[in-house]
Amino acid sequence: MEERYDVSSVEGTWEVARKFAEELKPGDVVCLEGDLGAGKTTFTQGLAAALGAKRAVTSPTFCIVVEHPTERMLLVHMDLYRLHDADDVLTIGWEDYLARGAVLLVEWPDRAGDLIPPNAWHVKFTLGETEDARVISLARR
Ligand SMILES: Nc1ncnc2c1ncn2[C@@H]1O[C@H](COP(=O)(O)OP(=O)(O)O)[C@@H](O)[C@H]1O
Ligand SMILES: [Mg+2]
Repeated sequence: MEERYDVSSVEGTWEVARKFAEELKPGDVVCLEGDLGAGKTTFTQGLAAALGAKRAVTSPTFCIVVEHPTERMLLVHMDLYRLHDADDVLTIGWEDYLARGAVLLVEWPDRAGDLIPPNAWHVKFTLGETEDARVISLARR
């Protein structure tokens, strides 16, 4: 199943994130796909806000992992760009987070290889026709 949303602004992306937040369960893995600047971090900000995060989300690029405790669950935002393979990803606590029931939001999920479970969510961002337009596809496969 795949759902597709055409949004025309950051607010539109936040709205999709807000609806998606209602679907999330502890232990879910969410792969965030799309080029630099496509909106992966912006979507995560909307998701965290919808779940009642206590502080703002910034890009995890220079930290690799950033934890966002929310009223409903622990969101863990990972940017795996600088990692190489699943062994690297294990060293940042992947299994511990899942065992604790965290939701993992993963940029550059290809680095995690087989660690991505078959029931992971895949949220893909592509640029639209105008500067602030994006196409967001949501799938679980
Ligand atoms: N509809 C939109 N959704 C998400 N970001 C948008 C949108 N329109 C414009 N932008 C801008 O595009 C940039 C997206 O950056 P970011 O979310 O950090 O991308 P990524 O994490 O995919 O590299 C931000 O500067 C944001 O303000
Ligand atoms: Mg980002």
